[in-house]
Amino acid sequence: MTANSPTASSPAATPPAAEIALRPAEMHIYKPTDPATAIVSKSELCTVSKKAAGFVRHIEFDVSGTNLVGRAIPGQSIGVIPPGTDANGKPHKLRLYSLASPSGGETGDGTRLSTTVKRVIDEHWESHALFTGVCSNYLCNLKVGDTVKLAGPSGKRFVLPSTISDHDYIFFATGTGIAPFRGMLLDILRSGAASKVALIMGTPYSSDLLYHNDMLDLAAKHPNFTYLPTISRERNDGPKGPGTLGKLYVQDRLTANAEQLGAMLRSPRALIYICGIAGMELGIFQQLATTLSGSDRDQYLTATAEVMANTKGWERNQLHRDIHLSKRIFLEVYS
Ligand code: A2P
Repeated sequence: MTANSPTASSPAATPPAAEIALRPAEMHIYKPTDPATAIVSKSELCTVSKKAAGFVRHIEFDVSGTNLVGRAIPGQSIGVIPPGTDANGKPHKLRLYSLASPSGGETGDGTRLSTTVKRVIDEHWESHALFTGVCSNYLCNLKVGDTVKLAGPSGKRFVLPSTISDHDYIFFATGTGIAPFRGMLLDILRSGAASKVALIMGTPYSSDLLYHNDMLDLAAKHPNFTYLPTISRERNDGPKGPGTLGKLYVQDRLTANAEQLGAMLRSPRALIYICGIAGMELGIFQQLATTLSGSDRDQYLTATAEVMANTKGWERNQLHRDIHLSKRIFLEVYS
């Protein structure tokens, strides 16, 4: 799966998960050259506040009558082919969007896939001309009843393990990186597994939180699910009530909520999934390396003593080269 951005790149190297059997994922049922035709069945803003600075939509596709029914799982992406041609007159290329739907889709019968799309609206850094993302704006402009060409699904490594109940889950998301975790969370909670799940969701402002009321409802109904919205440009709600914590990045939860997350991390059951903007993973690894030690830390990442002694100086290009991630970390980041 990839990020929900039209500029989504292929996954940053996901660690091999040979010893954790993952759910089997079907791939490339539809090729971009011969896509399925789906119908938009829902499109709604999914920011908690309709006054959020960005426009992010939850969009559902009815794939009834296609071979996609019941065959795409959370953590996978769906390919969207926007109509029209690019600046060189060539047909637009496929863009990948992470599924937000659980395994049975939105309606349980596998016919409604969903994704989470943020409109890309920007200014060219040099010419200061308005830049609007091709596919994100195409998708967000679609109305219920419109058709859309879909390929895929793709991705088989950023998925849940085949036996959900064997593990606990710590999900780190920023922005639309929450999409796969919405589907995974619903799958875990509906499975009836006693697995603990923590979702740490980062956005600039509280108005930008996605699926926020749904997450609050799920947390109220399921004591094994902890939802930690984490705001980078406002004070966060803390144990003593609103505004008691400073501005936080998702990785800061490892210290702000050290007791709960530390207990989860020290258990051999825990798996860490990370989805969102490139750069967040380094901060998470730095915090993991400083808040855990010895074999607790080695369960997730290893490095020479010299590298471990300098976590503050870690750089992204050291990942996989000097800092080795274990099979218990699943990574999907995008720029
Ligand atoms: P900020 O932009 O305040 O620096 P969105 O995708 O909605 O823009 O949200 C991305 C979130 O991730 C923002 O809260 C952003 O904070 C935050 N962020 C930016 N850089 C990092 C980083 N290196 N590690 C963790 N979070 C980050």
